[in-house]
Amino acid sequence: MNRPALEGLRLNVPAAVRHAKLIAWVAEMAALTEAREVYWCDGSDAEYDRLCARLVTAGTFKKLNPELRPNSYLACSSPSDVARVEDRTFICSQTQDEAGPTNNWMAPAEMRALLQTGPNALFRGCMRGRTMYVVPFSMGPLGSPIAHIGVELSDSAYVAVNMKIMTRMGAKVLDVLGTDGHFVPCMHTVGAPLEPDQKDVSWPCNATKYIVHYPETREIWSYGSGYGVNALLGKKCFALRIASTMGRDQGWLAEHMLILGVTSPEGKKHHVAAAFPSACGKTNFAMLIPPEGLKGWKVTTIGDDIAWIKPGADGRLHAINPEAGYFGVAPGTNELTNANCMASLKRDVIFTNVALTNDGDVWWEGMTDTPPARLTDWQGKDWSPAIAKATGAKAAHPNSRFTVAATNNPALDPEWDNPAGVPIDAFIFGGRRSTTVPLVTEARNWVEGVYMAATMGSETTAAMVGGNGTVRRDPFAMLPFIGYNMSDYFQHWLGLGAKLEATRATLPKIYCVNWFRKGADGKFVWPGYGENMRVLAWMIGRIEGTAQGRQNAFGTTPGYGDLSWSGLDFSAAQFDQVTSLDPQAWKTELGLHTELFQQLAHHLPVEMTATKAKIDQRLAA
Ligand code: OXD
Ligand code: MN
Repeated sequence: MNRPALEGLRLNVPAAVRHAKLIAWVAEMAALTEAREVYWCDGSDAEYDRLCARLVTAGTFKKLNPELRPNSYLACSSPSDVARVEDRTFICSQTQDEAGPTNNWMAPAEMRALLQTGPNALFRGCMRGRTMYVVPFSMGPLGSPIAHIGVELSDSAYVAVNMKIMTRMGAKVLDVLGTDGHFVPCMHTVGAPLEPDQKDVSWPCNATKYIVHYPETREIWSYGSGYGVNALLGKKCFALRIASTMGRDQGWLAEHMLILGVTSPEGKKHHVAAAFPSACGKTNFAMLIPPEGLKGWKVTTIGDDIAWIKPGADGRLHAINPEAGYFGVAPGTNELTNANCMASLKRDVIFTNVALTNDGDVWWEGMTDTPPARLTDWQGKDWSPAIAKATGAKAAHPNSRFTVAATNNPALDPEWDNPAGVPIDAFIFGGRRSTTVPLVTEARNWVEGVYMAATMGSETTAAMVGGNGTVRRDPFAMLPFIGYNMSDYFQHWLGLGAKLEATRATLPKIYCVNWFRKGADGKFVWPGYGENMRVLAWMIGRIEGTAQGRQNAFGTTPGYGDLSWSGLDFSAAQFDQVTSLDPQAWKTELGLHTELFQQLAHHLPVEMTATKAKIDQRLAA
């Protein structure tokens, strides 16, 4: 520990904290980063209000009109800091083999030299002139056997207030941690030390960025970004990348999945977990409102982005949402696409990179049919529909976000905070594909389902830097989030299924869906959103053994007459457009599966190539 740097620095450890390892780590990190002061977050509302007021003074937050959007703020980031940075994200396992071919890897010692120990280590002095916030948080209901604890040290008050919404955060977590509980250490800095006379900027960050994970020691080190999941380390870094390795070692699953409850008109409730890549409508699906024609069905939200799933004593898979809030994509969200979300956003929200209206409210593309005549865009520039037409400028960044507590959601499931989780009846995997992949297919068995998930492709979106709509393979929607070798991850899914099958447990059914097929006119054919309830109802019928399907080369699919069309004008010809299998397109598609398997050849489970061979045969026949 750097003694001189610690001299004069008070750690301000609250009296209730008796965790020696935590205190020693905070002291060590305060010394390394040369933070000006250390502040332990208690997670109270008063603290939240105080920090938000400080962010307003600093120019990071604008307080929105309290009459239109009570207790809400707008933050606008630096244009260089607006999304996940996949090329700056590293999995530093002991060997490259363990990280696998889909992850950036660097040897842990080399990375530690760069960040912590070397002569020009990036974290050395990185918090000079700034406060280091100690943010204890629980991923999952406090004390749940499925939950785990993390502590984030960050020099960003924006991070502290977002973590208060996104996780169970503060003093109560330290109580659960006790004197020697396990926590995942999460180091975060914006990488912008302040010299004594230097004036701060409203969005400090650094052009150099590192989002680093050490799976063996279960540590996270994030440098240079203040934005979203680069900085809110509980989400992708902990709950997916580190947790996926914990799950592999301990026999559970950490997945990029929403969780919803679906109750039939007869009052029977099922639970479904669904994986879609970023910005493909997970939040919309999790908050779905069934259409008029399917009255009597009800969907309730347990989570909108991440699921932690552990086998229970009953042999079933039980899931919790490790998060306590939603960090969702704003553009496209409106009263028609997601009325529950719009209701959630009425108050108590932190918006990032949306536009500011002249009366102090927010707006984003797709919120209303007619945009406001004038507003201030996310970069602080004057914006009007005419300016947009002339320059193409977006009022809100395509990856602009809202941060809001789950408890604001009118469709929140009563079980969302149940420490035991909810039993999962079905897994859904879906990508964004304008062609080729049909509306819905049921896997005939677990292995076929794992194959479907493993070979999933999707068009990239603005949630990642450089996302431009090209198709890439995104196995299980986990490509940017898996903390170890992808092929080993497939094996983990296969192994878990086999283990549960051996106990004669009923495994969840597995489905592959695609809401995004387009017609010759380039428009979506399937209406999506609430109408997805028709597909969900068919799945529940299959689980209950009441719905029909027919076999094709890939699995079981509904015919036109197997879905309910009550209240929707959707013809058999349109249904054919979203379900037809084009043999030529599938030949190309299967060629891409082969390419994926070549990339993942090392450790690839034989079940994958064997399943593909069977599909090839069936297609040829
Ligand atoms: C997210 C993402 O922010 O998947 O949820 O990128
Ligand atoms: Mn996500």
